[in-house]
Amino acid sequence: MKVRLLDVNSADLPLIEGWLRADHVRRYWGAPEENTRLLHEPPAGGHWRALIEAEGRKVGLVLWQHPTRQELDEAGLHDVPESVIDIDIMIGEAAENGRGVGSAAIRLVADNALADPAVPFAIAASAVDNRASQRAFAKAGFRNDREFDDVPSGRCVLMVRHRQRLEGAT
Ligand SMILES: CC(C)(COP(=O)(O)OP(=O)(O)OC[C@H]1O[C@@H](n2cnc3c(N)ncnc32)[C@H](O)[C@@H]1OP(=O)(O)O)[C@@H](O)C(=O)NCCC(=O)NCCS
Repeated sequence: MKVRLLDVNSADLPLIEGWLRADHVRRYWGAPEENTRLLHEPPAGGHWRALIEAEGRKVGLVLWQHPTRQELDEAGLHDVPESVIDIDIMIGEAAENGRGVGSAAIRLVADNALADPAVPFAIAASAVDNRASQRAFAKAGFRNDREFDDVPSGRCVLMVRHRQRLEGAT
């Protein structure tokens, strides 16, 4: 499976809006209205995004950012520094789920983030019942660090990949 990350162009936005409305995405990303607004008006500074291409087809979106101190403290993650990279992902094309694309894209983002020595580790918040997400992050070298309350989303698993866990995940 050849997976690449591509820049998001304005011509891609209708495709992504369709993914945001898909049931399997809104189940974990929430109502599409706010995500659609953020798609058109991305926050300035410390936020990045890329389209996920698999075998030449655009199938999903990955976002990564430095969380703010306020966001981390509200989630009770007082020991997590703002210098970490936090990853959000969706494979918007339902038929493309479970084919290894998500874990490959997560690995690309995490490898790139951890190449920066200023980034101590990469994280993701995965709803406790989102086993596909936890498995995809695990396949990309993350481990289950703890459960926490991701206000207002609910109970989540904090998935963490440290620099020394770059290789060997199964
Ligand atoms: C989470 C998501 C990005 C994963 O992408 P993906 O391309 O399906 O991921 P992969 O195929 O690389 O890995 C998924 C793994 O989860 C497994 N899986 C799928 N559903 C599962 C379930 N209900 N229980 C346990 N494992 C499950 C798959 O079998 C696969 O593991 P395997 O390769 O060992 O068989 C994708 O499912 C998605 O977009 N979901 C909707 C949005 C979402 O939940 N985003 C994440 C928010 S943190």
